[in-house]
Amino acid sequence: MDKILIHGGRPLSGSIKVSGSKNSSLPILAATLLTPEPCVVQGVPDLSDTHYMLQILTHLGAQVERASGTVTVAAENIESVAPYEVVRKMRASVCVLGPLLGRCKEATVSLPGGCVIGDRPIDLHLTGFEALGAAVRVEGGNVKVFAPKLTGAVINLRGKFGPTVLGTDNVMMAAVLAEGVTVIEGAAQEPEVVDLANFLNKMGAKIEGAGTRRIIIEGVAALHGVEHAVIPDRIEAGTFLVAGAICGKEVTVKRVEPEHVRSITDVLGSCGFPINIADHAISILPNGEAKALELITEPYPGFPTDMQAQMCALLSTSDGISVVTDNIFPQRYMHVAELKRMGAQMQMEGGTAVIQGVDRLFGAQVMASDLRASAALVLAGLKADGITEVSRVYHIDRGYERLDEKLSELGAHIERVKEA
Ligand code: EPU
Repeated sequence: MDKILIHGGRPLSGSIKVSGSKNSSLPILAATLLTPEPCVVQGVPDLSDTHYMLQILTHLGAQVERASGTVTVAAENIESVAPYEVVRKMRASVCVLGPLLGRCKEATVSLPGGCVIGDRPIDLHLTGFEALGAAVRVEGGNVKVFAPKLTGAVINLRGKFGPTVLGTDNVMMAAVLAEGVTVIEGAAQEPEVVDLANFLNKMGAKIEGAGTRRIIIEGVAALHGVEHAVIPDRIEAGTFLVAGAICGKEVTVKRVEPEHVRSITDVLGSCGFPINIADHAISILPNGEAKALELITEPYPGFPTDMQAQMCALLSTSDGISVVTDNIFPQRYMHVAELKRMGAQMQMEGGTAVIQGVDRLFGAQVMASDLRASAALVLAGLKADGITEVSRVYHIDRGYERLDEKLSELGAHIERVKEA
């Protein structure tokens, strides 16, 4: 197991290029199961999560080739059963259910287990499949969905924590090959949902309204192979902007879609950091300590839960008391205890972190618990006096392509070492 060592206190400056989006790549790769023809997906980041997805596709019978960021999937003959051994490593494996149901009219996928950021149920996905006419059985740790035929329906996917991203993806992927029209109300509006809809439309699907709360899908008889480049990763972009805010001179993230990170740049602006936005590049300029603020995570276009931990790291040295509430995953605060070990003053009140900014953080041995919490610890390490050791780096490798190398390019003193 690798760990990352960060010698804190180095200023960062320069530019980095954002990789393709993890959360677009995963459902788009799953969607290649919808056609027997080859699909070419470009800009797929080299991450353990994308590797897991390709392993699942291979297990299901698809021919997969990967050359750098370009992945070709030919799913000519596939099976519809994804067992525990292949899906257990990644919760997002659940997004093969929709395309398998659409194409094979049946799917058996092992249920995703618990997750450190919260319960993460899939009840809304299953409600959506049932509305399309599928029967759903949960037995022996597996979910089985099957239908002699799928028929369009009106489906509301809004749950008590708001819309569901992968649920919207899953129902959309099943509905593209259903008979008749499906209307998804309360759909997730995230850019990754729009990217998937664009991919499906290129394949011959008829989807309108992606990016709004209502998605309308007119079923078609078959889909064909396509080429598609995934959108840039907005959370990676946001993470590097926070790195710039934490210890920057001027940091520029390139290959970013400014609209996709607007809530993040707005919040960093409110923290007092000047932001320059060009076509596909955003620069953050230094301005001392962050101003304290109140932050609430919300579904897109609100501030993303996937940036909550990184903001906690930034606000830990802000000039007052900040209040951070995660409304999407109220238990997603595993980073708090670790940041406290670095000198941060934070207190949890339900799903809210109350952060009293301190002058300095101190390097410490800390443990990564999930992807975004790990990123927060690395960011805190960049600011802290002394050396921070982040162990269980495999969490970072799930979702950040070469995070340590990219931070080195910006001037960070960061190294990856093998843990004994
Ligand atoms: N929810 C339900 N029932 C469901 C599905 C979701 O109650 O059937 C709840 C969840 O428990 C949560 C809320 O609805 O409280 C939103 O969850 P959502 O379904 O949108 O999450 P997801 O689709 O499983 C994706 C991202 C996550 C990101 C969330 C929220 C992928 C692969 N994952 O998960 O990304 O946090 O949307 O934006 O797209 C990450 O990249 O670090 C990550 C965790």
